[in-house]
Amino acid sequence: MLMRNGTDTHIHASQYPNAGIFGKTTLLSWLETYTFPMESSLSDPARAQRVYSRVVARTLSHGTTTAAYYATISVPSTNLLADICLSRGQRAFVGRVCMDCLSPEYYRDESPEQGVLATKECIQHIKSIDPGYNIVSPIITPRFAPSCTSQYLHGLGQLQKETGLPVQTHISENTSEIELVKELFPESKSYTDVYDTHGLLGPKTILAHAVHLSPEERATIKERQCKISHCPTSNSSITSGAAQVRLLLDEGIDVSLGTDMSGGYSPSVLEACRQALLVSRHVAMGTADAEEKENVKLAIEEVLYLATRGGAKAVGLEAKVGGFEVGMEWDAQLVGLDGVPEGDEEEGLQGDDGLGGGTGPVDVFGWESWEDKVAKWVFNGDDRNTLAVWVKGRLVHERR
Ligand code: GUN
Ligand code: FE
Repeated sequence: MLMRNGTDTHIHASQYPNAGIFGKTTLLSWLETYTFPMESSLSDPARAQRVYSRVVARTLSHGTTTAAYYATISVPSTNLLADICLSRGQRAFVGRVCMDCLSPEYYRDESPEQGVLATKECIQHIKSIDPGYNIVSPIITPRFAPSCTSQYLHGLGQLQKETGLPVQTHISENTSEIELVKELFPESKSYTDVYDTHGLLGPKTILAHAVHLSPEERATIKERQCKISHCPTSNSSITSGAAQVRLLLDEGIDVSLGTDMSGGYSPSVLEACRQALLVSRHVAMGTADAEEKENVKLAIEEVLYLATRGGAKAVGLEAKVGGFEVGMEWDAQLVGLDGVPEGDEEEGLQGDDGLGGGTGPVDVFGWESWEDKVAKWVFNGDDRNTLAVWVKGRLVHERR
Protein backbone atom coordinates (compact mmCIF):
# COMPACT_ATOMS: atom_id res chain seq x y z
CA MET A 1 0.00 0.00 0.00
CA LEU A 2 1.10 3.57 -0.56
CA MET A 3 1.32 5.97 2.35
CA ARG A 4 1.72 9.69 2.16
CA ASN A 5 4.71 11.61 3.46
CA GLY A 6 5.94 11.03 6.97
CA THR A 7 6.88 14.23 8.77
CA ASP A 8 8.84 14.30 12.00
CA THR A 9 8.33 17.82 13.30
CA HIS A 10 10.77 17.47 16.19
CA ILE A 11 13.98 15.44 16.14
CA HIS A 12 17.51 16.02 17.44
CA ALA A 13 19.89 14.64 14.80
CA SER A 14 22.80 15.22 17.17
CA GLN A 15 21.34 12.94 19.85
CA TYR A 16 21.03 9.88 17.60
CA PRO A 17 23.86 7.90 19.26
CA ASN A 18 21.92 8.18 22.54
CA ALA A 19 18.65 6.73 21.20
CA GLY A 20 17.39 4.36 23.89
CA ILE A 21 19.78 5.66 26.56
CA PHE A 22 17.98 7.67 29.22
CA GLY A 23 17.66 5.43 32.28
CA LYS A 24 15.43 6.98 34.91
CA THR A 25 16.34 10.59 34.19
CA THR A 26 13.87 13.42 33.71
CA LEU A 27 14.36 16.41 31.41
CA LEU A 28 16.90 18.50 33.33
CA SER A 29 19.02 15.58 34.60
CA TRP A 30 18.76 13.93 31.17
CA LEU A 31 20.13 17.07 29.47
CA GLU A 32 23.05 17.23 31.86
CA THR A 33 23.86 13.52 31.96
CA TYR A 34 23.49 12.45 28.35
CA THR A 35 22.57 15.24 26.02
CA PHE A 36 24.98 18.14 26.43
CA PRO A 37 28.06 15.84 26.45
CA MET A 38 26.90 14.04 23.28
CA GLU A 39 25.96 17.21 21.41
CA SER A 40 29.18 19.00 22.27
CA SER A 41 31.20 16.02 21.04
CA LEU A 42 29.80 16.60 17.54
CA SER A 43 31.93 19.70 17.17
CA ASP A 44 34.41 17.10 15.89
CA PRO A 45 33.63 17.07 12.13
CA ALA A 46 34.47 13.39 11.66
CA ARG A 47 32.08 12.43 14.43
CA ALA A 48 29.37 14.73 13.07
CA GLN A 49 29.77 13.21 9.60
CA ARG A 50 29.39 9.70 11.00
CA VAL A 51 26.35 10.50 13.17
CA TYR A 52 24.50 12.73 10.70
CA SER A 53 24.97 10.39 7.72
CA ARG A 54 23.57 7.59 9.78
CA VAL A 55 20.59 9.46 11.23
CA VAL A 56 19.48 10.71 7.81
CA ALA A 57 19.79 7.21 6.30
CA ARG A 58 18.01 5.70 9.30
CA THR A 59 15.08 8.13 9.34
CA LEU A 60 14.63 7.76 5.57
CA SER A 61 14.49 4.00 6.05
CA HIS A 62 11.61 4.56 8.48
CA GLY A 63 9.75 6.68 5.93
CA THR A 64 10.58 10.16 7.26
CA THR A 65 10.30 12.28 4.14
CA THR A 66 10.53 15.57 6.05
CA ALA A 67 12.27 16.29 9.35
CA ALA A 68 12.59 19.38 11.52
CA TYR A 69 16.06 18.81 12.93
CA TYR A 70 17.98 20.31 15.81
CA ALA A 71 21.74 20.04 15.21
CA THR A 72 24.16 21.55 17.77
CA ILE A 73 25.65 24.99 18.43
CA SER A 74 28.50 24.20 16.01
CA VAL A 75 28.21 26.06 12.70
CA PRO A 76 30.33 23.65 10.56
CA SER A 77 28.57 20.56 11.84
CA THR A 78 25.10 22.13 11.46
CA ASN A 79 26.04 23.02 7.88
CA LEU A 80 27.20 19.45 7.36
CA LEU A 81 23.79 18.13 8.43
CA ALA A 82 22.16 20.42 5.84
CA ASP A 83 24.59 19.14 3.16
CA ILE A 84 23.78 15.52 4.00
CA CYS A 85 20.00 16.08 3.93
CA LEU A 86 20.30 17.78 0.55
CA SER A 87 22.50 15.09 -0.98
CA ARG A 88 20.34 12.25 0.38
CA GLY A 89 17.18 14.10 -0.72
CA GLN A 90 15.43 14.31 2.64
CA ARG A 91 13.35 17.46 3.10
CA ALA A 92 14.72 19.08 6.19
CA PHE A 93 14.50 22.12 8.37
CA VAL A 94 17.93 22.36 9.91
CA GLY A 95 18.37 24.40 13.06
CA ARG A 96 21.57 25.48 14.69
CA VAL A 97 20.87 25.18 18.42
CA CYS A 98 20.97 28.55 20.17
CA MET A 99 21.82 28.75 23.86
CA ASP A 100 23.88 31.09 25.96
CA CYS A 101 23.15 29.78 29.46
CA LEU A 102 22.16 26.68 31.48
CA SER A 103 24.41 24.29 29.53
CA PRO A 104 28.07 23.79 30.59
CA GLU A 105 30.39 26.64 29.67
CA TYR A 106 32.18 24.53 27.07
CA TYR A 107 28.89 24.09 25.22
CA ARG A 108 27.15 27.43 24.88
CA ASP A 109 27.28 30.53 22.71
CA GLU A 110 29.70 33.21 23.88
CA SER A 111 27.08 35.96 23.73
CA PRO A 112 23.72 36.70 22.13
CA GLU A 113 25.49 38.72 19.41
CA GLN A 114 27.86 35.87 18.57
CA GLY A 115 24.97 33.40 18.61
CA VAL A 116 22.89 35.44 16.19
CA LEU A 117 25.90 35.84 13.89
CA ALA A 118 26.60 32.10 13.99
CA THR A 119 22.94 31.42 13.19
CA LYS A 120 23.16 33.81 10.24
CA GLU A 121 26.19 31.87 8.99
CA CYS A 122 24.11 28.68 8.90
CA ILE A 123 21.26 30.48 7.13
CA GLN A 124 23.74 31.79 4.56
CA HIS A 125 25.19 28.33 4.03
CA ILE A 126 21.80 26.74 3.40
CA LYS A 127 20.91 29.59 1.05
CA SER A 128 24.08 28.86 -0.89
CA ILE A 129 23.41 25.14 -1.31
CA ASP A 130 19.62 25.30 -1.85
CA PRO A 131 18.68 28.89 -2.76
CA GLY A 132 14.95 28.21 -3.09
CA TYR A 133 14.85 26.12 0.10
CA ASN A 134 13.32 23.41 -2.07
CA ILE A 135 14.69 20.56 0.03
CA VAL A 136 16.58 22.11 2.93
CA SER A 137 15.57 25.21 4.84
CA PRO A 138 17.07 26.94 7.86
CA ILE A 139 14.97 27.18 11.00
CA ILE A 140 15.65 29.53 13.90
CA THR A 141 16.17 27.35 16.98
CA PRO A 142 16.31 28.84 20.47
CA ARG A 143 16.75 25.58 22.39
CA PHE A 144 14.22 26.53 25.09
CA ALA A 145 13.61 29.50 27.35
CA PRO A 146 15.84 28.32 30.24
CA SER A 147 18.90 28.08 27.98
CA CYS A 148 18.56 31.55 26.44
CA THR A 149 18.90 34.97 28.03
CA SER A 150 16.18 37.49 27.33
CA GLN A 151 18.61 39.43 25.16
CA TYR A 152 19.29 36.33 23.04
CA LEU A 153 15.56 35.55 22.67
CA HIS A 154 14.99 39.15 21.55
CA GLY A 155 17.82 38.82 19.02
CA LEU A 156 16.31 35.65 17.59
CA GLY A 157 12.81 37.17 17.51
CA GLN A 158 14.29 40.08 15.57
CA LEU A 159 16.05 37.65 13.21
CA GLN A 160 12.74 35.93 12.56
CA LYS A 161 11.16 39.26 11.71
CA GLU A 162 13.97 40.12 9.31
CA THR A 163 14.12 36.74 7.56
CA GLY A 164 10.57 35.38 7.80
CA LEU A 165 12.10 31.99 8.61
CA PRO A 166 10.38 29.32 10.71
CA VAL A 167 11.15 28.91 14.40
CA GLN A 168 11.30 25.78 16.55
CA THR A 169 11.67 25.40 20.29
CA HIS A 170 10.46 23.42 23.30
CA ILE A 171 7.58 24.44 25.54
CA SER A 172 6.01 23.23 28.77
CA GLU A 173 7.52 19.76 28.70
CA ASN A 174 8.28 19.08 32.34
CA THR A 175 7.06 20.59 35.63
CA SER A 176 10.58 21.37 36.98
CA GLU A 177 11.39 23.09 33.70
CA ILE A 178 8.24 25.21 34.04
CA GLU A 179 9.30 26.20 37.58
CA LEU A 180 12.72 27.15 36.25
CA VAL A 181 11.15 29.36 33.58
CA LYS A 182 9.14 31.11 36.31
CA GLU A 183 12.34 31.80 38.26
CA LEU A 184 14.32 32.95 35.24
CA PHE A 185 11.58 35.13 33.74
CA PRO A 186 9.68 36.43 36.80
CA GLU A 187 8.14 39.27 34.82
CA SER A 188 6.46 36.88 32.35
CA LYS A 189 2.91 35.67 32.85
CA SER A 190 3.74 32.14 31.67
CA TYR A 191 6.16 29.99 29.66
CA THR A 192 4.17 30.84 26.52
CA ASP A 193 4.32 34.52 27.42
CA VAL A 194 8.13 34.38 27.47
CA TYR A 195 8.23 33.39 23.80
CA ASP A 196 5.36 35.71 22.92
CA THR A 197 6.97 38.78 24.43
CA HIS A 198 10.20 38.01 22.57
CA GLY A 199 8.49 37.91 19.16
CA LEU A 200 8.91 34.16 18.69
CA LEU A 201 5.31 33.02 18.29
CA GLY A 202 3.69 32.97 14.86
CA PRO A 203 2.22 30.62 12.25
CA LYS A 204 5.71 29.33 11.41
CA THR A 205 6.59 28.42 15.00
CA ILE A 206 6.78 24.74 15.97
CA LEU A 207 6.41 24.21 19.71
CA ALA A 208 7.46 20.77 20.92
CA HIS A 209 5.69 18.99 23.79
CA ALA A 210 3.04 21.42 25.15
CA VAL A 211 2.26 18.94 27.92
CA HIS A 212 1.29 21.25 30.79
CA LEU A 213 -0.15 24.37 29.14
CA SER A 214 -2.76 26.51 30.92
CA PRO A 215 -5.98 27.54 29.14
CA GLU A 216 -4.54 31.07 28.72
CA GLU A 217 -1.39 29.69 27.15
CA ARG A 218 -3.40 27.55 24.73
CA ALA A 219 -5.46 30.60 23.78
CA THR A 220 -2.29 32.55 22.94
CA ILE A 221 -0.88 29.64 20.93
CA LYS A 222 -4.14 29.37 19.01
CA GLU A 223 -4.26 33.10 18.37
CA ARG A 224 -0.68 33.14 17.08
CA GLN A 225 -1.42 30.02 14.95
CA CYS A 226 1.63 28.20 16.29
CA LYS A 227 2.01 24.51 15.50
CA ILE A 228 2.42 21.90 18.21
CA SER A 229 4.73 18.91 17.84
CA HIS A 230 3.33 16.18 20.05
CA CYS A 231 6.16 13.90 21.19
CA PRO A 232 4.54 10.96 22.99
CA THR A 233 7.51 8.57 22.87
CA SER A 234 9.69 11.16 24.56
CA ASN A 235 7.07 12.28 27.06
CA SER A 236 6.73 8.70 28.32
CA SER A 237 10.46 7.87 28.16
CA ILE A 238 11.67 10.77 30.29
CA THR A 239 8.41 10.87 32.27
CA SER A 240 7.41 14.37 31.22
CA GLY A 241 3.66 13.78 31.21
CA ALA A 242 0.75 13.02 28.91
CA ALA A 243 -0.16 15.80 26.50
CA GLN A 244 -3.88 16.48 26.06
CA VAL A 245 -3.99 16.13 22.30
CA ARG A 246 -7.79 15.93 22.07
CA LEU A 247 -8.10 19.16 23.98
CA LEU A 248 -5.60 20.88 21.69
CA LEU A 249 -7.43 19.61 18.60
CA ASP A 250 -10.86 20.56 19.99
CA GLU A 251 -9.59 24.07 20.63
CA GLY A 252 -8.54 24.32 16.99
CA ILE A 253 -4.78 24.17 17.56
CA ASP A 254 -2.70 22.53 14.81
CA VAL A 255 -0.94 19.39 16.03
CA SER A 256 1.72 17.23 14.39
CA LEU A 257 4.00 14.43 15.58
CA GLY A 258 7.63 14.44 16.65
CA THR A 259 9.91 11.61 17.71
CA ASP A 260 12.03 13.96 19.84
CA MET A 261 14.75 11.40 19.55
CA SER A 262 16.69 10.90 21.85
CA GLY A 263 14.32 12.19 24.54
CA GLY A 264 12.25 9.59 22.71
CA TYR A 265 14.03 6.28 22.18
CA SER A 266 13.03 5.82 18.55
CA PRO A 267 13.66 7.75 15.31
CA SER A 268 10.48 6.27 13.82
CA VAL A 269 7.38 8.37 13.15
CA LEU A 270 5.39 5.12 13.04
CA GLU A 271 6.49 4.51 16.63
CA ALA A 272 5.36 8.06 17.48
CA CYS A 273 1.97 7.21 15.94
CA ARG A 274 1.48 4.17 18.12
CA GLN A 275 2.74 5.94 21.21
CA ALA A 276 0.29 8.78 20.52
CA LEU A 277 -2.49 6.20 20.42
CA LEU A 278 -1.36 4.66 23.71
CA VAL A 279 -0.76 7.97 25.51
CA SER A 280 -4.26 9.12 24.57
CA ARG A 281 -5.56 5.91 26.14
CA HIS A 282 -3.65 6.69 29.33
CA VAL A 283 -5.28 10.12 29.30
CA ALA A 284 -8.61 8.29 28.91
CA MET A 285 -7.86 6.08 31.92
CA GLY A 286 -7.41 9.21 34.00
CA THR A 287 -10.71 10.68 32.83
CA ALA A 288 -13.78 10.07 35.00
CA ASP A 289 -16.60 11.06 32.66
CA ALA A 290 -17.58 8.05 30.51
CA GLU A 291 -18.29 10.02 27.36
CA GLU A 292 -15.13 12.06 27.69
CA LYS A 293 -13.13 8.88 28.30
CA GLU A 294 -14.07 7.67 24.82
CA ASN A 295 -13.63 11.05 23.25
CA VAL A 296 -10.02 11.62 24.32
CA LYS A 297 -8.81 8.39 22.70
CA LEU A 298 -7.19 9.10 19.36
CA ALA A 299 -8.12 6.96 16.36
CA ILE A 300 -5.66 5.43 13.92
CA GLU A 301 -6.81 7.76 11.13
CA GLU A 302 -6.15 10.71 13.41
CA VAL A 303 -2.57 9.82 14.27
CA LEU A 304 -1.85 9.08 10.61
CA TYR A 305 -3.27 12.52 9.83
CA LEU A 306 -0.95 14.09 12.44
CA ALA A 307 2.05 12.28 10.89
CA THR A 308 1.21 13.33 7.33
CA ARG A 309 -1.05 16.34 6.66
CA GLY A 310 -0.62 17.66 10.20
CA GLY A 311 3.16 17.49 9.85
CA ALA A 312 3.08 19.12 6.42
CA LYS A 313 1.01 21.98 7.84
CA ALA A 314 3.35 22.40 10.79
CA VAL A 315 6.28 23.02 8.46
CA GLY A 316 4.26 25.14 6.02
CA LEU A 317 4.28 22.56 3.22
CA GLU A 318 0.59 21.68 3.20
CA ALA A 319 0.13 22.88 -0.37
CA LYS A 320 2.97 20.64 -1.60
CA VAL A 321 2.99 17.45 0.45
CA GLY A 322 0.83 15.46 2.82
CA GLY A 323 -1.72 14.18 0.31
CA PHE A 324 -2.03 12.63 -3.12
CA GLU A 325 -3.96 15.45 -4.81
CA VAL A 326 -3.09 16.31 -8.40
CA GLY A 327 -0.41 18.97 -8.43
CA MET A 328 1.24 17.96 -5.17
CA GLU A 329 4.84 16.79 -5.01
CA TRP A 330 5.53 13.06 -4.75
CA ASP A 331 6.55 12.42 -1.14
CA ALA A 332 5.44 8.91 -0.27
CA GLN A 333 6.40 5.53 1.03
CA LEU A 334 5.51 2.08 -0.23
CA VAL A 335 4.47 -0.21 2.61
CA GLY A 336 4.54 -3.98 2.18
CA LEU A 337 2.83 -6.46 4.47
CA ASP A 338 3.44 -10.21 4.49
CA GLY A 339 0.73 -12.48 3.15
CA VAL A 340 0.65 -15.71 5.12
CA PRO A 341 0.63 -18.59 2.61
CA GLU A 342 -2.25 -21.03 2.67
CA GLY A 343 -1.52 -24.66 3.53
CA ASP A 344 0.37 -26.53 6.20
CA GLU A 345 2.89 -24.25 7.86
CA GLU A 346 4.63 -27.20 9.46
CA GLU A 347 5.98 -28.42 6.14
CA GLY A 348 8.87 -26.00 6.01
CA LEU A 349 12.38 -27.07 5.09
CA GLN A 350 14.48 -28.44 7.87
CA GLY A 351 15.91 -25.59 9.87
CA ASP A 352 13.27 -23.25 8.49
CA ASP A 353 11.83 -21.01 11.19
CA GLY A 354 8.36 -21.35 9.69
CA LEU A 355 8.09 -17.69 8.80
CA GLY A 356 9.13 -17.97 5.19
CA GLY A 357 11.67 -15.14 5.24
CA GLY A 358 9.04 -12.49 4.54
CA THR A 359 9.30 -8.73 4.50
CA GLY A 360 8.46 -7.83 8.07
CA PRO A 361 6.61 -8.45 11.28
CA VAL A 362 3.04 -7.93 10.03
CA ASP A 363 1.19 -11.09 8.98
CA VAL A 364 -1.84 -10.61 6.75
CA PHE A 365 -4.14 -13.61 6.39
CA GLY A 366 -6.22 -12.21 3.57
CA TRP A 367 -9.53 -11.76 5.35
CA GLU A 368 -8.66 -8.41 6.95
CA SER A 369 -10.45 -5.26 5.83
CA TRP A 370 -8.40 -2.40 4.47
CA GLU A 371 -8.75 -0.56 7.81
CA ASP A 372 -7.63 -3.64 9.70
CA LYS A 373 -4.52 -3.99 7.54
CA VAL A 374 -3.62 -0.37 8.27
CA ALA A 375 -4.20 -0.95 12.00
CA LYS A 376 -1.97 -4.02 11.96
CA TRP A 377 0.75 -2.01 10.25
CA VAL A 378 0.48 0.90 12.70
CA PHE A 379 0.71 -1.34 15.76
CA ASN A 380 3.07 -4.06 14.52
CA GLY A 381 4.97 -2.62 11.56
CA ASP A 382 8.49 -1.26 11.42
CA ASP A 383 11.11 -0.22 8.87
CA ARG A 384 11.09 -3.70 7.31
CA ASN A 385 7.66 -2.80 5.95
CA THR A 386 8.92 0.42 4.38
CA LEU A 387 9.92 -0.92 0.98
CA ALA A 388 10.55 2.36 -0.82
CA VAL A 389 10.52 6.07 -0.02
CA TRP A 390 10.32 9.02 -2.41
CA VAL A 391 10.80 12.72 -1.78
CA LYS A 392 9.82 15.21 -4.49
CA GLY A 393 9.69 12.31 -6.94
CA ARG A 394 13.18 11.06 -6.14
CA LEU A 395 13.67 7.54 -4.81
CA VAL A 396 15.55 8.20 -1.57
CA HIS A 397 15.36 4.78 0.07
CA GLU A 398 14.76 1.26 -1.13
CA ARG A 399 14.71 -1.82 1.07
CA ARG A 400 16.85 -4.59 -0.33
N1 GUN B 1 14.49 20.90 26.26
C1 GUN B 1 15.64 21.52 25.99
N2 GUN B 1 16.45 20.79 25.24
C2 GUN B 1 15.81 19.65 25.01
C3 GUN B 1 16.13 18.48 24.25
O1 GUN B 1 17.20 18.34 23.67
N3 GUN B 1 15.17 17.52 24.23
C4 GUN B 1 13.99 17.65 24.88
N4 GUN B 1 13.12 16.67 24.83
N5 GUN B 1 13.68 18.73 25.59
C5 GUN B 1 14.57 19.72 25.64
FE1 FE C 1 13.41 17.93 21.90
